[in-house]
Amino acid sequence: MAELLSIGQVAERAGLAPSALRHYEAVGLVTATRTAGGARRYPRSVLRRLAFVRAAQNVGLTLPEIRAALDTLPEGRTPSARDWARLSEGWRARLDEQIAALQQLRDGLTSCIGCGCLSLTRCALSNPEDAAAAQGPGARWLSPALRRVPPTSNAG
Ligand code: FES
Repeated sequence: MAELLSIGQVAERAGLAPSALRHYEAVGLVTATRTAGGARRYPRSVLRRLAFVRAAQNVGLTLPEIRAALDTLPEGRTPSARDWARLSEGWRARLDEQIAALQQLRDGLTSCIGCGCLSLTRCALSNPEDAAAAQGPGARWLSPALRRVPPTSNAG
């Protein structure tokens, strides 16, 4: 029988609090079996799922979005490299958008971003009297990907 890990072992290896593991189980991101005494036991493959959850959160996905993706993985067997590839392919467009947005942020912070501050000498030319405000709230000339409200780690 394959080695099973306790919640403490998984928490230590994954760098997560046990409470986070219990929350992830409650929202369906991971599952655990129980010993006769009720203690959680996890297959080693849960570590890859948890790494995937952490990475996905870091690129802005909500827990429900991550769960929907994980729900497409096969039941009853450890996901293969092909399974993971299919899953990440579904996020390619979103990741491409974020990469482009971050490049814009890296290269464009010296320019006026249409935020309404009017604090750079260029703002008087680029955004006279905060004309950008007519387009809506936020820094109007930053990519929409950078103006989204970030999900919280407990979203869902
Ligand atoms: S940088 Fe804020 S309005 Fe120009």
